[in-house]
Amino acid sequence: MDKFIIQGPTALNGEISVSGSKNAALPLMAAAMLGNGTSVIRNLPRLKDILTFNNVIRVTGTRVDHDVENATLHINPDNATYFEAPYELVRKMRASFYMLGALLGKFGYARVSLPGGCAWGPRPVDLHIEALKAIGAEITMDKGYVIAKAPENGLPGGEYTFNPSSVGATVNALLGSVLANGTSVFHNVAREPDVIQLCNTLTSMGAKIKGVGTSTLTVHGVKYLEPMDATNDPDRIEAGTYMLAAIMHPDSDVTLTNCNPDQLGHFLEMFDQTGAEVEVNRDAQTIRVKAPQVIHPVSITTDVYPGFPTDLQAQWATVMTQANGTSVITDTVYTDRFSYVPELKRLGADLHIQKNSVHVKGKTKLSGTSVMSTDLRASVSLIMAAMVAEETSEVLRVYHLDRGYEQLENKFNKVGGNITRSDDQNG
Ligand code: UD1
Repeated sequence: MDKFIIQGPTALNGEISVSGSKNAALPLMAAAMLGNGTSVIRNLPRLKDILTFNNVIRVTGTRVDHDVENATLHINPDNATYFEAPYELVRKMRASFYMLGALLGKFGYARVSLPGGCAWGPRPVDLHIEALKAIGAEITMDKGYVIAKAPENGLPGGEYTFNPSSVGATVNALLGSVLANGTSVFHNVAREPDVIQLCNTLTSMGAKIKGVGTSTLTVHGVKYLEPMDATNDPDRIEAGTYMLAAIMHPDSDVTLTNCNPDQLGHFLEMFDQTGAEVEVNRDAQTIRVKAPQVIHPVSITTDVYPGFPTDLQAQWATVMTQANGTSVITDTVYTDRFSYVPELKRLGADLHIQKNSVHVKGKTKLSGTSVMSTDLRASVSLIMAAMVAEETSEVLRVYHLDRGYEQLENKFNKVGGNITRSDDQNG
């Protein structure tokens, strides 16, 4: 397994280009199963999760051509005959569960493995299943697999209220309902940009979806969909991560390119309060961040979009270890997503968990040591901390990182980081 050797402290100066969004791309890839003919998706990130999902789709007999150099995918489901997503692939990536809605919606049948556990809590799929039941699917369980069937005349449609609001379940409900025989109404849907992009793309394929951007979506089923020609959104979580990395060191001055500042929600307002200088240029799709000499402590609470994203919570806590005072980071979306806390402590940070909050005392001097990545966002937080820690740190098991950040070490090294990837013989 690879590890990173990081020499600190380093300031970051220059431009970082934001890649296409992983979480927004995956629903589009599943939606390509719904069209007749070849769909095209551009601006894909070069990430393991995308390659994993290519393979999930290929299992069905769908043709997937991935032009990695040009970040473009062609997906043609016309010869799909096998409507299953096996455990070997679903366990590698939960989002493979999107095949449930996609296969059910297009072919009237799906057999998809349950995703199983996750590093931060049980992460259930009950809402996905309940929503598909509500629009008329007959759902049974068999040896760890969910089997979803449509009645002979197709799914009739129906009404469902998500509680809590869920990105993944909203995506599955949309995938299942756009080709239904009747109308479906979904309340309290997720309004994350990933869902909006999916709705707009499905609409461009011929789907009839009303209420896009609001908390209720009404889907009038149509008989067939055209293939999509879509350009995937930039990754807002990657953008937020680099903004936060850019204020860890007082001499940093970083400009993010290819980003969409309008998709950052309340994060941008909270970020302003840290004392950082932020210049947003919507026309040029850039955000320039100049680090403050002193970081103000700012407490945050995660929430569904446009609230503060749970996917930036660990990185925020990491920045707060360098703030001038105490802050509290509360996660209401995933209440135990704090596996980074003991590892940050090993670097010298002063923080402790209390229920679903982390109390962070700044400013602490960080010193290099070995730490272990436990999940995607924890990994990047440890790297951010190591980049301002004295001397050398090792961040072990960076495979988590490779699932969600495209060429992270190259992007950081280009602007002044000192990160070397190496094979960790001890795993
Ligand atoms: C997506 C993102 C993930 C992000 C999360 C929240 C992808 C591939 N992943 O995950 O990075 O952290 O949104 O923004 O896009 N819930 C249930 N039952 C369900 C489904 C969800 O109770 O059937 C709960 C979850 O436990 C959680 C909340 O709903 O408390 C939100 O989860 P959800 O939005 O579904 O997250 P994901 O779509 O899995």
